[in-house]
Amino acid sequence: MSTLIRNGRIITAEQDYIGDLYIEKDKITTIGVNLQTQADKVIDARGKYVIPGGVDVHTHLDMPFGGTVSSDDFETGTRAAAFGGTTCLIDFAIQSKGQKMREALDIWWKKGEKATTDYSLHMIITDLPEAHLEDMNEMVREGLTSFKLFMAYPNVLMVDDATIFRALRQTGQNGALVCMHAENGSVIDLLVQKAVAEGKVAPIYHALTRPTTAEGEAVNRAIALAEMASAPVYIVHLSSADALEKVAEARDKGVPVFAETCPQYLLLSIEDLERPNFEGAKYVFTPPLREKWHQDKLWEGLRKNTLQVVSTDHCPFCFKEQKELGRDSFAKIPNGGPGVENRLQLLFHHGVNKKRITLNRWVELLSTAPAKMFGLYPRKGAISIGSDADIVIWDPNKEHTISAKTHHMNVDYSMFEGFKVKGNVETILLRGETIVDKEKWLGKAGRGQFIKRDTYAGAWK
Ligand code: URP
Ligand code: ZN
Ligand code: ZN
Repeated sequence: MSTLIRNGRIITAEQDYIGDLYIEKDKITTIGVNLQTQADKVIDARGKYVIPGGVDVHTHLDMPFGGTVSSDDFETGTRAAAFGGTTCLIDFAIQSKGQKMREALDIWWKKGEKATTDYSLHMIITDLPEAHLEDMNEMVREGLTSFKLFMAYPNVLMVDDATIFRALRQTGQNGALVCMHAENGSVIDLLVQKAVAEGKVAPIYHALTRPTTAEGEAVNRAIALAEMASAPVYIVHLSSADALEKVAEARDKGVPVFAETCPQYLLLSIEDLERPNFEGAKYVFTPPLREKWHQDKLWEGLRKNTLQVVSTDHCPFCFKEQKELGRDSFAKIPNGGPGVENRLQLLFHHGVNKKRITLNRWVELLSTAPAKMFGLYPRKGAISIGSDADIVIWDPNKEHTISAKTHHMNVDYSMFEGFKVKGNVETILLRGETIVDKEKWLGKAGRGQFIKRDTYAGAWK
């Protein structure tokens, strides 16, 4: 099977030109102007943008959490991702305490069998005795070249500084990357207990018990631990100016610290947690939404490359029956929000259209940089000869109103309900095969492949 995409405006992290792409089976094999090649299928992309498929490096599909399970599995979640222009995502396998990482990996591989797009996994470490350090090397050999550690959620996922330091020393040697959930969980826990004891149980107290200082402190500590271990560190879902400052300071010193933020921190704010009728619960995730002024700082961080990646932290829980588990106390609301489908459109409309970021930067933040950071590049995140033909054909003029009524995520609300965007997906190719065409689904469960990744060190050599 061969496909020719003609006359599109090809936009990568570095380039912007009108051209043709020739795809043979699953790879891009020729790039040129006015290619005279015959193909089984020809797509006319005149007036459209042609960009590499989005790479979302932070999702939680089919994840047991907060007494329930996230409502998208690998089939519905990857399908929604594809409708939004993301053709590869990295989800999280979770090692339970005392469990071998290998066993956790097998469980998540099974879950991933239904994927409709390509995917990879990070391993969440909850337990790392010295004797089990070799497990991390085994994961790297399996192509899981990143690990997530939590400085928050005591008694659930949180690990102590010694465990973090041990893991960082190991990745300093095996070339993998530690992703850090950086919030001071012990302090937050005390603030939560006090609020609940005082009867302060509404959703807004989720944000008020997780101050920005708790994030800034943890980011600072994570960086210090990484420096002492001579390892890079990647801060996930960075939400506040306090945390951003710590990352900027370290990067100015030349420390290999990287960070992502998410659309919700760029576009929503703490006021959303005060919505009446318990609707604030829809915005309960961690770190929490901040005061509005933090948004400008985060956009600036994206422009200045203090932040290198925009991911979604897609972790959907339905309002009915799942978020409602916390009706009597915010501390019982499952933490997480949906967004895997909206990342490209939100960053295009609020970033590119509003002139906060360039078109090239848009591609870089959503596809190329995450692919490079996590060892997927140039197979993913690129339009180049030999890359996987994961292609988004983007209509910059298509208008759309985001709504739970029309989205494809398996969740009964949208965090961005009613947001109007200009610029949306027209066609999506996954390894040469059209899986979305003008809002029609052509993909199938099981078509996605688990992608073995290179190490961080390997990706940047
Ligand atoms: O609230 C969130 N972010 N839920 C998902 C788990 C995590 O901390 O990333
Ligand atoms: Zn997290
Ligand atoms: Zn997360």
